[in-house]
Amino acid sequence: MNVVFLSPSYPPEMREYTRGLAEVGANVLGVGDGPPDPRIRPYLADYLQVPRILDEEDVIRRVTAWLRGRSVDRIEGIWEVLTLLAARLRERLGVPGMSVSTVMGFRDKQLMKERVAAAGLRVPIARRVRTASETWAAAEEIGFPLILKPIAGAGSADTYRIESKAELEKILPRMSHVTEASCEEFVDGEEFTFDTVCVEGQPRFVNVAQYLPRPLVARTEEWISPVIVTVRDLKQPKLQKGIELGTGVLQALNMGTGFTHMEWYLKSNGEVVFGEIGCRPGGAHLVDQMNYTCDVDLFREWARAVCWRSFEGRTERRYNVAILFKRALGQGRITRVDGLKEFLARSHPWICTEQLLPVGTHRRDWKQTLLSDGHIILRHPDWDRAVQLAFDGAKNVTMIAGG
Ligand SMILES: Nc1ncnc2c1ncn2[C@@H]1O[C@H](COP(=O)(O)OP(=O)(O)O)[C@@H](O)[C@H]1O
Ligand SMILES: [Mg+2]
Repeated sequence: MNVVFLSPSYPPEMREYTRGLAEVGANVLGVGDGPPDPRIRPYLADYLQVPRILDEEDVIRRVTAWLRGRSVDRIEGIWEVLTLLAARLRERLGVPGMSVSTVMGFRDKQLMKERVAAAGLRVPIARRVRTASETWAAAEEIGFPLILKPIAGAGSADTYRIESKAELEKILPRMSHVTEASCEEFVDGEEFTFDTVCVEGQPRFVNVAQYLPRPLVARTEEWISPVIVTVRDLKQPKLQKGIELGTGVLQALNMGTGFTHMEWYLKSNGEVVFGEIGCRPGGAHLVDQMNYTCDVDLFREWARAVCWRSFEGRTERRYNVAILFKRALGQGRITRVDGLKEFLARSHPWICTEQLLPVGTHRRDWKQTLLSDGHIILRHPDWDRAVQLAFDGAKNVTMIAGG
């Protein structure tokens, strides 16, 4: 089983997938820019270093030449920006897996919504807009409040909730660098994920997590410590329509084998609305959270699904797992962390990992990365307790920066 794996060292969690591939018996042929991280060397059968992993034409040329005369069974890239490149390579080299057209449905947010809507599933009313006048026309049609966001967005960047014409007037100049935007009906409600590991389109592992608060709010207010909690009880009535929606979306988009990460909204009237989906795992440690939820190793089980089209992981859900991201007060280097010791002591048996940036390190840019200035993962079998524990940390652990 020869598996080409794109960018096995970066982002850092890719090292875990590389390990997983090796553990299920694959010969891992890594392709990345820069030398491979020393920690993954034992898992690599071979490695091609390319100048720029995002330069698709160049990578396709180099990989094709490198693989000449070798048989290849799989080509995988699960960092979002590499999912299309992996599909292009598969098509070029005749390797099984999802096609370029299928992966496009997971990458182009407009095409995605069109395909999902065509299957009769509820998506936000949306228009693709390229100019200010197109945006005004779309706003007229859709009405306020509305959402304006880049078609090729990520991490809520350049995403605005707009309440009125006056606000749209103010926001439009800030969007001038965005060539294509989506102008959408604002869907009010709670926001959840729907995550899977699929084998040939069939979800073999399913997860739902709730964002507290919604990502756009978390990204707008620096003082917030965003919390995301995986839901232990997937049988509860509240989630059924969302899980059905998610399952329908996988079919509508012709999902193949691998991870999916979807977001959906639950309105107060019970209606569920599709948000977006990627054919890759969720970021910001969501896979770690899912692993702690079931005491499973999804890095390895993903690899098993990809290589052998099977899944052997545990799916019994034992915990609600919360991740809590902290943002320091002040700028520059972290100087102090208050309340951490006490918080860890009172939550002790439920803490999975504490990864706050140590004193002396420079703050991360909270607008650029949800990871912010570090995180704590904790879990509890009872939903309310898990949320309470996370909110306790959000409120009572304070990181201070300055100087
Ligand atoms: N139509 C919408 N209605 C309400 N909120 C939205 C809508 N579109 C986006 N948002 C908010 O903005 C966030 C980011 O948008 P999303 O489409 O998920 O893009 P990305 O996560 O790739 O930046 C969402 O998580 C949600 O909180
Ligand atoms: Mg999103």
